[in-house]
Amino acid sequence: MDHFIIQGGHQLHGEIAISGAKNSGLKLMVAALLTDGPLILSNVPDIADIRTMRSLLTGLGLDVHEVDGPHHLSLGGRANSVEAPYDIVAQMRASILVLGPLLARAGEARVSLPGGCAIGTRPVDLHLKGFEALGAEIDLEGGYINARAPAGGLRGARIMLPFPSVGATENILMAATLAKGTTEIVNAAREPEIADLVGCLNAMGAKIHGETSGTIVIEGVERLHGAEYAVMPDRIECGTYACAVGITGGDLLLEGGRMGDQEAVIQALQEAGVSVQEDARGLRVQCNGRLQGIDLTTEPYPGFPTDMQAQFMAMLSVAEGASMMTETIFENRFMHVPELNRMGARINIQGRSAIIRGVPRLSGAPVMATDLRASFSLILAALVAEGETEVSRIYHLDRGYEGVDRKLSACGAAIQRVHNTH
Ligand code: UD1
Repeated sequence: MDHFIIQGGHQLHGEIAISGAKNSGLKLMVAALLTDGPLILSNVPDIADIRTMRSLLTGLGLDVHEVDGPHHLSLGGRANSVEAPYDIVAQMRASILVLGPLLARAGEARVSLPGGCAIGTRPVDLHLKGFEALGAEIDLEGGYINARAPAGGLRGARIMLPFPSVGATENILMAATLAKGTTEIVNAAREPEIADLVGCLNAMGAKIHGETSGTIVIEGVERLHGAEYAVMPDRIECGTYACAVGITGGDLLLEGGRMGDQEAVIQALQEAGVSVQEDARGLRVQCNGRLQGIDLTTEPYPGFPTDMQAQFMAMLSVAEGASMMTETIFENRFMHVPELNRMGARINIQGRSAIIRGVPRLSGAPVMATDLRASFSLILAALVAEGETEVSRIYHLDRGYEGVDRKLSACGAAIQRVHNTH
């Protein structure tokens, strides 16, 4: 298992190109199951989760190949299997998203239940209720979800989500593109990645509107066709590097970053004392001097994203004064706190909130990454800590961030990846 060695105390200056969004690219790849294609995707991030999705789709029978390097994929052909096996679903929860498209196109699907994961229990009940509303029969057996469409195929329905789940919205949305009649998803998630998926599906011939309004209307069509589509920039990667400037000070141009995708994050950065401006190339982020503590609560989009919670917590751990971070989306998403405290942070957890008392400095220590976003909070802390930090288990990070060491070292950070041979 690789690890990072980081020497803290270097400001960041320069430019970082923001990669394509993991949370959009994965879903756009799954959309290829809805057509014989080919679906040609550009700006695909070169990260482990995308490679896992490639194996899943190849295992289902699709032809997935690189057009011109790993950032450009062509996906075509028709699934000849309807099973997403345990070993892949256990590696990557987003595998559950093949259920809707398989059900819509092949009339059946068998997908391993994702089970628990590091950041909470994360059930899939809302996905399954949605499919039942479209007429599917679902049964759970031997750790698998078996789903079967009715004889004439899925039928449009009005589905009210009790919570705007991102995954449930996407899964139901994809299934409904090929259902008979109209489907309405009420209280749908409004994350920008959903609009990206709708953009791609409409380019493939789907008839979907309302994706930014909270009520998505899908008029089922007979079939979808191939298309070319560019994955949107990763707003979470962009926000993460903005936090890096907040914690070390300096000046970065985040190429491709967009304000419109992340107003809550930018507002929080500005409130804490980080300057963010948009120009034709992306977001210019600057910071000098000590930040101010602020209070934040994670919420569904357009609120402050849970995927930025750990990074802000690292940044606020060296701010002037106290901050409070309340996590409302996932239970058990504070696993980075004990690790940050080992580096000298003063963070106490009270139920769903964490109280962060700003300290003047952090100090390097060996720490362990626990999940994708938490891993980056440790890197951020290490960038400002006195001395050396070793971050182990960075395979969590490699799931979702492309070229972290390359991007950070080009801007002045002292970060080195060490390949372990055992
Ligand atoms: C997606 C993102 C993840 C992000 C999350 C919230 C991907 C691949 N992942 O995850 O990075 O942190 O959105 O913005 O895009 N829930 C249920 N029943 C369900 C579905 C969800 O109770 O059927 C609960 C979950 O346990 C969780 C909450 O709803 O507590 C949010 O989950 P959801 O919005 O579905 O997130 P994901 O799609 O899993």
